[in-house]
Amino acid sequence: MATLATPLAGDGPGAPTTPASALLPVYKRAPMELVRGDGIRLYDAEGREYVDFTSGIAVSALGYGDPGLRDAIRRAADGLVHVSNLFRTAPGERLARKLADRSFADRVFFCNSGVEANEGAFKFARRWARTVGTLAKHEIVGLRGAFHGRLFASLAATDRPNYRAPFRPLAGGISIAERDLETLAGLLSADTVAALVLEPIQGEGGVRVLDAGFLRELRALTTERRIALLFDEIQCGLGRTGYLFAYERAGVAPDLLTLAKPIAGGLPMGAILMTEAIAGAIQPGDHGTTFGGGPLVASVAEYVLDRVSSPELLAGVRERGEWLGAALRDLAARTGHIREVRGTGFFWGIDMHTPSAEVIGRARDEGLLLVGAGDYTIRILPPLVASRDDLADGLQRLARALG
Ligand SMILES: Cc1ncc(COP(=O)(O)O)c(C=O)c1O
Repeated sequence: MATLATPLAGDGPGAPTTPASALLPVYKRAPMELVRGDGIRLYDAEGREYVDFTSGIAVSALGYGDPGLRDAIRRAADGLVHVSNLFRTAPGERLARKLADRSFADRVFFCNSGVEANEGAFKFARRWARTVGTLAKHEIVGLRGAFHGRLFASLAATDRPNYRAPFRPLAGGISIAERDLETLAGLLSADTVAALVLEPIQGEGGVRVLDAGFLRELRALTTERRIALLFDEIQCGLGRTGYLFAYERAGVAPDLLTLAKPIAGGLPMGAILMTEAIAGAIQPGDHGTTFGGGPLVASVAEYVLDRVSSPELLAGVRERGEWLGAALRDLAARTGHIREVRGTGFFWGIDMHTPSAEVIGRARDEGLLLVGAGDYTIRILPPLVASRDDLADGLQRLARALG
């Protein structure tokens, strides 16, 4: 290709270089190459073992090499891989029915990722809002500390200045509000607000568990003002809190809810769950996707949903999650390196005195994989199948990394 003129070639920051990898460097990737996994452990090309406290950022709920998941993928591959959404297929219909039966929802839309689920949910909320208000009822309000993805509308609801700044102008009609009841009560009183979007547990924002009372107040406010309440459970949903949905902990049901990450065991899938009231506002042609809810991915997701819905699995996450939280607090008291411990279930954040990137690097040297959430916070997201011994092994490695 070297003889072809490149349209944007030049001497500026876009000038071509000869990179070692052809992948676009939007991630600062760790140096080792991961080649295999077993349970909650991953192995690199040199045979080094790592305890995985990231679950592929809340994706690999069943860990690695799960025989049931492998069989589900094999069975799914024996069937149809894809047909257009112009036709009906059973796996997607079954999965939607199970999600609706196990949640507040009546209808489900499938897509291919978390950000896509949020972008779709914003559209659905806006579409519905105009059936209960005027055309002016369009604004989507997000919360301080939120992360909803990196496309134009979800980025506009994401409170990360460095992710946003290079891409302005972002989608309009979307703003970020303080996580404060008084401020929100004021903002939500405007007739122009269509939806309030929030993560019941903010993930990238540092693992902040929103108070159940706060969520109940927001539910009351949004109901009264006919504003759609949208819960982004892409990271905190599907068992991570020890409940199938994080909203169950708070006893507050939304109008729309987005899922992705663990839903299809690592295959790409997102979902938007909604009430009949919202669904009733959506017309054929309002939204679409070529791949979303295809038969292969949907049958794998049905298997994963059954596993993460299991009362034993959920009870185990609650019980071992409590133990994990106590162990992290103990580690904080013993080492003096941790400022604060927050979280629930298998979803914890620890605020460090030193930059998270340094601790993550030292942990990797000790054979433990961690993921950051901002400059000084580390997230602990073990696969939901992690035993107490697995967790203890990871914690010992963390203690060694903290020195
Ligand atoms: C709460 C939340 N919403 C949305 C997203 C975006 O999901 P995806 O990366 O699948 O587009 C993420 C991803 O980290 C997330 O944690």
